[in-house]
Amino acid sequence: MTPARGAACGKVILLGEHAVVHGTPAIAAGIERGAEATVIPAPEGRSSLHLAGIEHLPGEAKTPLCHAFAALLATFPDLPPVRITAESRLLPGGGLGSSAALGVAIARAAATFATSTGSATSVDAAQILAAAGAWERVFHGNPSGIDTTAAALGGCFLYTRAEGASPLALRHDVWLAVGSTGTSASTKSMVESVARLFERKPEVRDHTLPAITALVRNAALALEAGDLKGLGHLLDLNQMLLAGIFVSTEDLERMCLLAREAGALGAKLTGAGGGGSLIALLDARSDDDAARAAAPVLAAWRAAGYDGQLARISDRRA
Ligand code: MEV
Repeated sequence: MTPARGAACGKVILLGEHAVVHGTPAIAAGIERGAEATVIPAPEGRSSLHLAGIEHLPGEAKTPLCHAFAALLATFPDLPPVRITAESRLLPGGGLGSSAALGVAIARAAATFATSTGSATSVDAAQILAAAGAWERVFHGNPSGIDTTAAALGGCFLYTRAEGASPLALRHDVWLAVGSTGTSASTKSMVESVARLFERKPEVRDHTLPAITALVRNAALALEAGDLKGLGHLLDLNQMLLAGIFVSTEDLERMCLLAREAGALGAKLTGAGGGGSLIALLDARSDDDAARAAAPVLAAWRAAGYDGQLARISDRRA
């Protein structure tokens, strides 16, 4: 039997991370680099997940991956034993949605396998998100769902926990330099530290959440109008608010500054922070523009010892 396959994209959060966990809107977009999974009947007669050459068994539940795999499999109750091989091209904890992309790719491959072997008649998009959500909760504790939604949908969308994704119609594609600090942090612990801060200091929550909401709403308008300068300014303001809730780091601040000095229209961390990745908005409306605008940003990061690459955001769905 040919293996059943599933794939999913990585993501960047353009604005609104962390606040989105507390119910406010955020904007996310799919990026191409993501994850892939294949499923075959288990030759050993018991399910297993193979990731980077290491086997994880759901019954053993020794590691978070074993727990996550068990939680995902539980959403396919009639699935026969399967051997799943998965691969992510995204740095774990790097802020680009590696675990969500893996969860969606594995759920898609399992769904294709389930329908082709008759253990399910059909699996819809909501079930894929539920399966990936069960996986993601093991790593993130209280995920808003924006990462798995981006991994599954791609494109560019406004998201709230209550209403899910509303796709945005971009005036034109948007180009970002995506930089990596080279360090990573646990999303779960970053989300928990913000929750503790909001509990201890409700006044910080009460000024941060409405401020981020306003930035996100304005950014949706800027994206739809093609106002890159306005969007860049909103990214910078969002970064200040993220620094105010202690999720930025010296490396992230330095890389944002280097990017702005090299001509980026705005820059901010993306994802959970504490390390991980940042995005710098390029003054570009075509691939040629983007290559020209990205070069000094990427060179400045490289000279300071950081990696980065160009990414294109469009409203085309995955
Ligand atoms: C992580 O990519 C984004 C956070 O807002 C967590 C979440 O929304 O689940 C930090």
